[in-house]
Amino acid sequence: MVGIDQVLEKLSTVIDPDLKKDIVSMGMIKDLELNEGNLKFTLELTTPACPFNVEIEDDVRKAIAEISELKNFDMNVTAKVMEGRSLDDDVGMATVKNIIGVASGKGGVGKSTVSLNLALALSQAGAKVGLLDADIYGPSIPLMLGMKDGFMEVEENKLQPAESNGLKVVSFGFFAEQSHQAAIYRGPIISGILKQFLVDTNWSDLDYLIVDLPPGTGDIPLTLAQTIPITGILVVTTPQDVASNVAVKAIGMFEKLNVPILGVVENMSHFICSNCDEKHYIFGDGGAKKISEEFKMPFLGEIPLNSGIMAGSDLGKPIMIASPDSPSAIAFRTSAKNIAAQCSILAAKLQYETESEKTNEESISETNS
Ligand SMILES: Nc1ncnc2c1ncn2[C@@H]1O[C@H](COP(=O)(O)OP(=O)(O)O)[C@@H](O)[C@H]1O
Ligand SMILES: [Mg+2]
Repeated sequence: MVGIDQVLEKLSTVIDPDLKKDIVSMGMIKDLELNEGNLKFTLELTTPACPFNVEIEDDVRKAIAEISELKNFDMNVTAKVMEGRSLDDDVGMATVKNIIGVASGKGGVGKSTVSLNLALALSQAGAKVGLLDADIYGPSIPLMLGMKDGFMEVEENKLQPAESNGLKVVSFGFFAEQSHQAAIYRGPIISGILKQFLVDTNWSDLDYLIVDLPPGTGDIPLTLAQTIPITGILVVTTPQDVASNVAVKAIGMFEKLNVPILGVVENMSHFICSNCDEKHYIFGDGGAKKISEEFKMPFLGEIPLNSGIMAGSDLGKPIMIASPDSPSAIAFRTSAKNIAAQCSILAAKLQYETESEKTNEESISETNS
């Protein structure tokens, strides 16, 4: 009769293509039961937005099919997002598993558009997602979501995020009167506001918190990098950025602060012609790929230049909601999956480092005793 060891051995032949580890040692097999040839378990994937979810599930089925003595096989597939940030030292925001800062060298590259549609894509995949509009000088998320008159309540000294399309949303734009004066605020005040938005907000359980940063390397990106551990930074570029090198400067600042860079997404990368359905790289192609190679960071996607994306933002109906099957929405979905995969990779690395630190500490205390 087939035994548990044999099942686990077969399952260990399935490798997660992103994490490059087998699914058994990654702890992705849960609640395994084997009863007289009847096998049952749960496959717990690392994010509902993993680009390889279907492939992993297929590989598991194939591996199990090779065990001829099995009478019955039943698999439940779920996803539990891994913690991609260190939560050890009681740093706050412990219910938020991943924080992703979205940065760019200059304004107008579509950072807010990309932040919002990526947040929606992750949420539509089944993740719990928050969106923090940290562009205190020019908050644009409320308009893009059609929430011009939105507001946040304060309960028990905590800000309650507004809700829209399944997202928890916090923006300085909700404080209409103050936001008119934002231009005169300087360093410490700005940092204080961002810290409050991060730490004094009742985010509840989130898989991903997307933080739409103002462009460049000012007080807000610096405060985000220094206030709490974050998973990493997503860099948004346009083909023109490559020539002016502005993105490179922003990446340099985060690298100096030891904040991981998740990768780069190129916005307004190409134009899809409605007559021939072909991609035209009207501003030249390969710019973001060049940056990703130079900085040894992943290239996570390219978003077309599309009037529907702009109209969606202007009308408060983002493209992920207005036309979820359009090529633009598909491009956002692909990028979102690649970003989720990068978060899982960083989470696995963090888990490995914490475990090896513990093993080191244990062996040190053993030597000492
Ligand atoms: N891929 C795109 N195609 C067409 N228009 C876009 C695209 N991305 C952004 N836009 C438009 O460009 C303008 C600037 O975008 P925004 O997201 O506000 O940039 P940022 O936050 O970097 O300043 C907005 O009018 C937006 O609708
Ligand atoms: Mg913006």
